[in-house]
Amino acid sequence: METLLLKGIPVRDQVFAELKEKVAKAPRKPGLAVILVGDDPASSIYVKHKEKGCQEVGFHHETHHLAADTSEQDLLKLIDRLNKDQAIDGILIQLPLPKGLDQDKIQLAVDPAKDVDGFHPENLGRLVSGSPRFVPCTPKGILRLLTHYGLPVDGLNVAVVGRSVIVGRPLTLLLSLKRADANATVTLCHSGTKNLAEITAKADVVVAAIGVPRALGPEEIGEGAIVVDVGINRIDAPERPKGTRLVGDVDFQALKGRVSAMTPVPGGVGPMTIAMLLENTWEAMAHKENLDG
Ligand code: GUN
Repeated sequence: METLLLKGIPVRDQVFAELKEKVAKAPRKPGLAVILVGDDPASSIYVKHKEKGCQEVGFHHETHHLAADTSEQDLLKLIDRLNKDQAIDGILIQLPLPKGLDQDKIQLAVDPAKDVDGFHPENLGRLVSGSPRFVPCTPKGILRLLTHYGLPVDGLNVAVVGRSVIVGRPLTLLLSLKRADANATVTLCHSGTKNLAEITAKADVVVAAIGVPRALGPEEIGEGAIVVDVGINRIDAPERPKGTRLVGDVDFQALKGRVSAMTPVPGGVGPMTIAMLLENTWEAMAHKENLDG
C-alpha cells in the first residue's frame, strides 16, 4: 500500500504566506510574547522556532527568558505587565514549567483574550461547550493538516492516545465538535487503558501523543489507517554525526506501506503547531482591532 506522507511544512508555508499578506494590509503588527522559564533544551529549541516564525510573517515578538528559580510572584508580575501591553496580542508560556511553579495558577493569570495557546480555563471551557475561541495549537494543527490532505474525519473512529492538556484532551474535544470539519467518534486512550491495542487497531485514525519513542507499531495500528504522530523524541543514534536523532511515538518504518497516510517526524505535526500559534495571534489582534478574518 502506498502511504501518503502528511507533510506539515508545505501547509505551514501556505499559512505563513496568508498571514504575511494580511499583516501587509493591517494597521499594525500583531505581537507575540513568549515566556520561557529555565533552560530545558527542547523548550529552548521550540521557542527559537516560534521566534523564527514571527520574523518570517512580520509579527512583533519578544521572548522573556527567566531563570529556573524565578518566583511565582515575579512570573505573575510579568504576565500582568504583558496583559496590559497594547503591543502584545498573544502571550505564550512555554511548558513544562520548572517544578515549584503552579501551572494552573499561572495559566489563569493570562488574559483569556491573549491566551493564544488556548490553555486558560475560559478557553478550554468554550471548547467543551462547543463555541471555541482559541483552540490549542497542536490539536488545531492536526485537524488543519488532515483537512488540507483531503482526509475528513466526519463519521470516522479516531483513537487519541495520550490525555495531556496540550494535545490529547483538547484534540478529543475538537474532533468531536458538531462541525463539518470534525464530527468524529473519538476514544481517548491513556496509560490506564487496559486493552489499548484492541481499541487502536480498529480505529480509522490513530493519533499518538504520549512521548514514548516508537511505542505504537503494526500490532496497535490497523492496515490502511491514518496515523498522526505528535511525538518528538530524541534517541541515541551512534551512526549520526550528532549521535542522536528524532523519532516519533509510532514506528514509522514498520508502518510505512501498511497505513494509508502518516505524518513524518520531524516535519509533520511540529510545523503545524507553529503555524496555528501565529494564526491564533493574528486572530487575537484582528478581534481587538475589529478587522475581518
Ligand atoms: N510545550 C509543548 N508544546 C507546547 C505548546 O503547544 N504550547 C506551550 N506553551 N508549551 C508547549
